[in-house]
Amino acid sequence: MKDWVAWHAAYDDPSSPLSARLRVVRAHLSAALDAAPPGPVRLLSLCAGQGRDVLGVLPAHPRGPDVSAVLVEYDPRNAALARAVAAHGARCGPAPGRGQADRAPAAPAPRAGP
Ligand SMILES: C[S@@+](CC[C@H](N)C(=O)[O-])C[C@H]1O[C@@H](n2cnc3c(N)ncnc32)[C@H](O)[C@@H]1O
Repeated sequence: MKDWVAWHAAYDDPSSPLSARLRVVRAHLSAALDAAPPGPVRLLSLCAGQGRDVLGVLPAHPRGPDVSAVLVEYDPRNAALARAVAAHGARCGPAPGRGQADRAPAAPAPRAGP
C-alpha cells in the first residue's frame, strides 16, 4: 500500500515537479475565489492529503472568511496534519474518509495573522 504521507515529502523541495504543480493548483483556486460571487462559498476537497493546496490559499485570500471547506482524506496521519494546519490558519475541517464526503464542522480557529 502506498505511503501517502511520504508522497507529500516532495513538497519540501520547492524545485520539485510536485511543488510546481502545487503552485498551479493554488493559483487556480485563488482565481476561482476571486471570481466567486459575493456570499458564502463551499469548498469540497476529495483525496485532500495534507490539504496543502486549500490550506495554502484560504488564510491569506480576501474571500477566505466566506469559505466553508471540507477536506476528505483517507490517511489519518495526513488528516491530522491538515487539521493542525487548519486550526492555526484556515476555517477548514479536514475529515477522514473512504471516498465519502464525511462532514466535519468548520474549525472555529481564527485566521492566521501576518
Ligand atoms: C496523490 S495524494 C493527493 C493529495 C492532495 N490532493 C495534493 O494534491 O497534495 C492522494 C491522497 O488521496 C488519499 N486517498 C486515497 N484514497 C482515498 C479515499 N478513498 N478517500 C479519501 N482519500 C483518499 C490518500 O491518502 C492521499 O493522501
